[in-house]
Formats: sequence, structure tokens, C-alpha cells
Amino acid sequence: MTTMESLIGLVNRIQRACTVLGDYGGGDNAFSSLWEALPSVAVVGGQSSGKSSVLESIVGRDFLPRGSGIVTRRPLVLQLHKTDQSSQEYAEFLHLPKRRFTDFAMVRKEIQDETDRITGKTKQISPVPIHLSIYSPNVVNLTLIDLPGLTKVAVEGQPEGIVQDIETMVRTYVEKPNCVILAISPANQDIATSDAIKLAREVDPSGDRTFGVLTKLDLMDKGTNALDVLEGRSYRLQHPWVGIVNRSQADINKNVDMIVARRKEREYFATSPDYSHLASKMGSEYLAKLLSQHLESVIRARIPSITSLINKSIDELESEMDYLGRPIALDAGAQLYTILELCRAFDRIFKEHLDGGRPGGDR
Ligand code: GDP
Ligand code: NA
Ligand code: MG
Repeated sequence: MTTMESLIGLVNRIQRACTVLGDYGGGDNAFSSLWEALPSVAVVGGQSSGKSSVLESIVGRDFLPRGSGIVTRRPLVLQLHKTDQSSQEYAEFLHLPKRRFTDFAMVRKEIQDETDRITGKTKQISPVPIHLSIYSPNVVNLTLIDLPGLTKVAVEGQPEGIVQDIETMVRTYVEKPNCVILAISPANQDIATSDAIKLAREVDPSGDRTFGVLTKLDLMDKGTNALDVLEGRSYRLQHPWVGIVNRSQADINKNVDMIVARRKEREYFATSPDYSHLASKMGSEYLAKLLSQHLESVIRARIPSITSLINKSIDELESEMDYLGRPIALDAGAQLYTILELCRAFDRIFKEHLDGGRPGGDR
């Protein structure tokens, strides 16, 4: 791992430990500032625009509930932790701390069950997030947030206020300056009607942290194409637009797996008369690469402020530990201790690296 990867990994683990601690992560203290100092990535868009599908592709694993209608009904805060090459991949929920999931079909089932536990088997939503961590050698250190889709009308079984409630919920995530927005619009609808672009423009007028993603290119009317959007003529964004072909509902029903889906997507762009000239800058894998490059540059720019926050956390933690008295048997004490150790590790790696050059300079 590069130094940059180690530092990001450590902050990821600190964030996770703060989340476990609950109150400590929520209040106004060094930990909450630390949480906000690092970027996360949230998907925004209309219902069934392909948000959950795009997130899955970025992770490279099948584990999210997808489908037509309102499927995602609670925010899912997904932390990816990069581990050593030899280690086995597993997932863990904050609400089930002792259980390691190695079967990702079971992860999907647990997301569905845990959604239902709060909302019932309804079409209602809840702002209470589900926290999931994936530990794998094949991911980049990253926090991704899946959100319910924006809608225009309440359907049967939903309260009238749901349209506004969803928008408010989505907004609380994407208005944070540390949130990178994946604004998802389906290519088979006019971009001028995109809920994703409308909201992204409101919360990020400069477009610094918005990535435009155009899904469902395969579903456009014959004889039309999305070049005006993809080449930035319809709606200009700071970052280039990325076109995507996710699995169709028929593919999902047939259990077409991720590897096959990615291959088909690559073939789609490579052989398309409209898009082949853009093929190297299209698709889920390219989007994942673009995002991780962006995040790395954001984090690199924030390293000085993160370092000072971490030092502040170390001070706060040490006085907290003194107050609690050492050694501590309590869970909270152990958790504080973990955070302290992680903060110290960050500080150490950062300082060691300062002697040898800039963090990440070894890439
Ligand atoms: P979400 O509601 O925005 O999270 O969207 P989902 O990821 O759950 O996808 C909604 C539906 O659209 C599912 O049936 C997907 O199979 C389908 N879908 C998503 N993206 C594409 C795409 O690029 N092409 C095709 N053909 N179908 C897609
Ligand atoms: Na959907
Ligand atoms: Mg969804």
C-alpha cells in the first residue's frame, strides 16, 4: 500500500470507530470534525435512475437491493476498507457487530430485512441510516452513500409528505461540502428534466464536487444518442460526464453477474458507432477510477487540516481517558482507546513520511 492509502485507510477506520461510539461521532467535537473533513460519495437521482446499480459497479460486488419502484428506502452508508492482498473479503453491519458476512447475497438480504425492521414491508422511507463496512483487497478506501430516489408524487401506500421528506433526506447528505455527488440521470429521459442535476446545481453551484453520470444508454430510442450530454454541450459540468450501461431488469432476473456485466458494458462502448470514440472514458470501471483519483487529490489537499484535527483528537482522547481512568473495561473506553491508537498511528505514519517527502509522494 502507498502511504496515501495507509493514511486514508486509517482515517476510514477512525471514522468507523467514531460511528461505533455513536454519541462521539454525532456531537460537536474533534471527532465529528474529523468525520466531515474526509470526502464521501453520495448518489443522487430520480427513482430507478440506476443509483444502486452504479454504486454496486463501483464496488465491483453484487450486494445491493435493486429494481423498479422504491427499493432503497433508508440511507446506506457504505465504508470500503482496503485490506492486504491475502485477506479474505467480508462485510460487517454496525447493527450486527459480531457477524462477518462472506456471502454477499446474504448482505443484500440483511439490507432488505434491516430496512423492513424500521419501515415495515411498506413503501415508506426512514432517514435512519444502515451502516455497512466491506473489507477487501479489491476496493479503494472510500465511503459511499446510497439514497432513496427523488420522486414527484406519493404512490399508493405512501404519505403525502414523502416527496418532500425524500428530498430533505437527500439534501442533508449532499449539501455537506465534503460530499462528492454522483448525479445520476437516465439517458432515456430528457436531461432538462433531471432531478439529479437540479439538486446538484442547487447545493454545488460551481460543480466542483459533482460528477454527472448518464445511465441506461442502451435504452435510448433508436436513432437518438446522448453525445450532446456526454460531450458537455447540453449541460456543462466541471468534471466530464460518464456514460454507463448497467444490468437491465432482465439481467438481474437472470442473475447476470458483475464480471459478465462489466464485460458487456465494455463491449457496448467499444462497438457502438456513436460512442466508440469515447470508449476509454465511459463505463463503470472508468467512473470508479475517476472517482478515486478525485478523492485522492481532495484528501491530499486536506491532509494538513486532517493532521491537525487528529492531533486535537489525540489531546481530547487522552484527557477523556484520564478522566475515565486507565485501564478501562467499558466498551466505550475500549473504543476510545482504539480511536486513540488509530490517531497515533496516523500521526506516526504522517510524520515518518514527512521526513521522506510529501504524503503519497511514493506513488
Ligand atoms: P435506483 O432506484 O436509482 O437505485 O435504480 P436501480 O439501480 O435499483 O435500477 C432500477 C432499474 O433500472 C433496475 O431494474 C435496473 O435493472 C434498471 N437499470 C439501471 N440502470 C440500467 C441501465 O444502464 N440499462 C438498463 N437496461 N437498465 C438499467
Ligand atoms: Na428503484
Ligand atoms: Mg436504489
